Amino acid sequence: MTLNSSQYEAETIPGLESVAIEELSDLFGPELNPVHRSRPGFLRFRFSGAQEALSTSRAVIAVYRVHRFDIPRPKALLGHEHFTRLTAILRRASVNWGSAPETIGIGAAGSQSSVLLRLRKELAEALALRSADDGKGELYMRLARQRGGSGWEILVRTTGQPLSKRLYRVADVPGALNATVAYSMTRCGLLPNPACVVNLCSGSSTILIEHGITRPSDNLIGVEYCADMIDCGMRNARAAGNDTTIRHVQADARQAPLPAGTVDLIYADLPFGHHIGSHADNLTLYPAILQEAQRLAREHTIFVILTQEVKLMRRCLANSAWRILDEKLINLRGLHPRLFVLKQNSATIV
Ligand SMILES: C[S@@+](CC[C@H](N)C(=O)[O-])C[C@H]1O[C@@H](n2cnc3c(N)ncnc32)[C@H](O)[C@@H]1O
Repeated sequence: MTLNSSQYEAETIPGLESVAIEELSDLFGPELNPVHRSRPGFLRFRFSGAQEALSTSRAVIAVYRVHRFDIPRPKALLGHEHFTRLTAILRRASVNWGSAPETIGIGAAGSQSSVLLRLRKELAEALALRSADDGKGELYMRLARQRGGSGWEILVRTTGQPLSKRLYRVADVPGALNATVAYSMTRCGLLPNPACVVNLCSGSSTILIEHGITRPSDNLIGVEYCADMIDCGMRNARAAGNDTTIRHVQADARQAPLPAGTVDLIYADLPFGHHIGSHADNLTLYPAILQEAQRLAREHTIFVILTQEVKLMRRCLANSAWRILDEKLINLRGLHPRLFVLKQNSATIV
């Protein structure tokens, strides 16, 4: 155990834990005691650096500091000693936030029980906060039985908002990709510097914005046929500060007005046929996108696709010039899309 380290839990997208572990290790190497997946979507680690640094992670949804309470049941938190300790922990949690929190929420199995409703009410009073209507709140803590132990854990979110909520998303649209997933898509391969990067069906440009934050010198092009989506993409890119680096092209992604053999990395978050598009449209869209990506690609181009139409994608891939390098099944609030990383069959193994 690292001296003076504290225990944290990071919440991430189930299926993308390995991406978050890699990112946290890249960012904080020596200050981290090895990060491990404690259960689907959750990582545990000890960290000896300044807590605020953890909020630079883009692969996790939220980070929580873990506090152990040696109590048999949550009701004991209402007792003087534990309640005093808990309010002190919660006061300290937001000391370094830019603005003071206004609301408090508790997440727990049985969060609507009389004990937890009373705890939330008493904490709100003691800290001069409002109980959050949606139960979440800016000052947000989760309460859980200690795994493999007899006590309970209070997990206090280290930030007023989840890290997955990006400030650049000023234009939110149905079907916009979770930014944590978009960031994970951008960690899928080595690239030349600068690289030409194209997002087919770019929607509100989440993937290109996440890519541009890491690699602002790349030549970034979004191809999207819907004018409203292009407008949202431009507004988000402007808010992210990279509206000059992303070129938004309004066009059919099946026939992108871009020269053949010029693109180093291609992204596509394809319509799943839920919020956007339909299965019938996808039957023709998917093979056409694979073909167009082949036309745009250089020999070693990587193509990163997210889709929930897995059977259709496999069928289309079998008849395409692309092969699967990596595949991850993710859980996105009840949807189960897959992240495919593809390379061309003709590419030599490197
Ligand atoms: C799942 S959404 C992409 C969401 C995007 N990743 C975001 O974060 O906003 C799929 C997008 O594909 C676009 N689209 C569907 N068919 C297209 C086509 N043939 N050419 C260009 N765009 C297309 C839709 O308008 C939609 O914006």
